[in-house]
Amino acid sequence: MKRTITLTVNGTTYTRDVEPRTLLVHFLREELALTGTHIGCDTSQCGACTVLLNGNSIKSCTAFAVQADGGEITTIEGLAAEDGKLHPLQEGFWEEHGLQCGYCTPGMILSSEQLLQRNPNPSEEEIRKGIEGNLCRCTGYQNIVKAVQHAAKNSAAKA
Ligand code: FES
Ligand code: FES
Repeated sequence: MKRTITLTVNGTTYTRDVEPRTLLVHFLREELALTGTHIGCDTSQCGACTVLLNGNSIKSCTAFAVQADGGEITTIEGLAAEDGKLHPLQEGFWEEHGLQCGYCTPGMILSSEQLLQRNPNPSEEEIRKGIEGNLCRCTGYQNIVKAVQHAAKNSAAKA
């Protein structure tokens, strides 16, 4: 039997009837057409599906949509400003060449966003630890670390 859930995604509130078994990642991609959240492994290992739920990064392939009922979700589509200006982390990945295929990037950025919210000036080691749940198979991580450092520096400069 379907259940009615209401959640706020990137500032917009949605109410939908869903099957209790619907995974959050499928809800975001198929019901809301927010396809920036990717499915890499479906087994909670790669982090491509990472979103923020009430400010905490979660792997949306391992959460049911009904578990997010009443919550606030941020996906990669919600990071840039309304006028299109990129978020500091998006700028960082752009400037420091933090991506190649880019498939892992939305999840990487959202994990990094949680990290910077909690620790605005992380060390390299802290950045590597912050993104350890996100696999990237093609950049070797060095430029990803630089991208997060770039964002931390730019955010601090604006604060
Ligand atoms: S698709 Fe969720 S962790 Fe890989
Ligand atoms: S850029 Fe992350 S897997 Fe390729």
